[in-house]
Amino acid sequence: MSAKAKEHAARAALSYVEAGMTLGLGSGSTAEIFVELLGLVVDEGLSVRGIASSEQTADLARHVGVPLIDIEQADHIHLTVDGADEVGPEFAMIKGGGGRLLREKIIANASDLGVCIVDESKLVDVLGAYPLPVEVDPFGYTITAKKVFDVLVAAGCATPVMEQRYADDGKAPFITDGGNYIFDCTCTAIPRVRQVAAKLSAVPGVVEHGIFLDLVRVVIVGTDDGADILEL
Ligand code: A5P
Repeated sequence: MSAKAKEHAARAALSYVEAGMTLGLGSGSTAEIFVELLGLVVDEGLSVRGIASSEQTADLARHVGVPLIDIEQADHIHLTVDGADEVGPEFAMIKGGGGRLLREKIIANASDLGVCIVDESKLVDVLGAYPLPVEVDPFGYTITAKKVFDVLVAAGCATPVMEQRYADDGKAPFITDGGNYIFDCTCTAIPRVRQVAAKLSAVPGVVEHGIFLDLVRVVIVGTDDGADILEL
């Protein structure tokens, strides 16, 4: 994804922002560009407040001057702008490449409107080429991972390959903002995505998974030349 395409998508998302809004702020490189651009319009006098989906986004928001509130202080989230790893039919998505899927999903689910900012490379006919992140509680995680594998096989994912995510130095497991582990599940294709999502959610020990359904009504696809707005 070129930096220009990301910026075009992020800039187009600003047109959904209105004064007085409480905004869910996503995570990842594209969402971060949106936060940076939002900082500029706040600097010019726009009054909004943000709820960050990760510590990293919160740090950036503070740095660029976007006022933040704690999610517990929010009775309403008007709009969430976030990236995605894959966007499929009906705007079903895989998210969590950055490991922030739990907070991203909580915020998206609480929002009046979800806007997703991506480039064309993220658009797919069938989800699953991108490894599906599944966040699991550390207690009993080996057992939970086996159950996740069984769900994926039963749902028709040919030969899932599951790998526990490690921190960048490769020495210790990656720990999410919520204190959990992540398993990245390479499925090649997830044929019945709604069924898989429901079955994964039903596994004890699965805290959250990266299949996002019905959480976005607008997808902005950035290109080197501009941005296309897709609406459901
Ligand atoms: C973060 O956990 C993810 O859900 C991101 O939204 C996703 O990985 C997209 O990131 P980029 O904008 O960096 O591609």
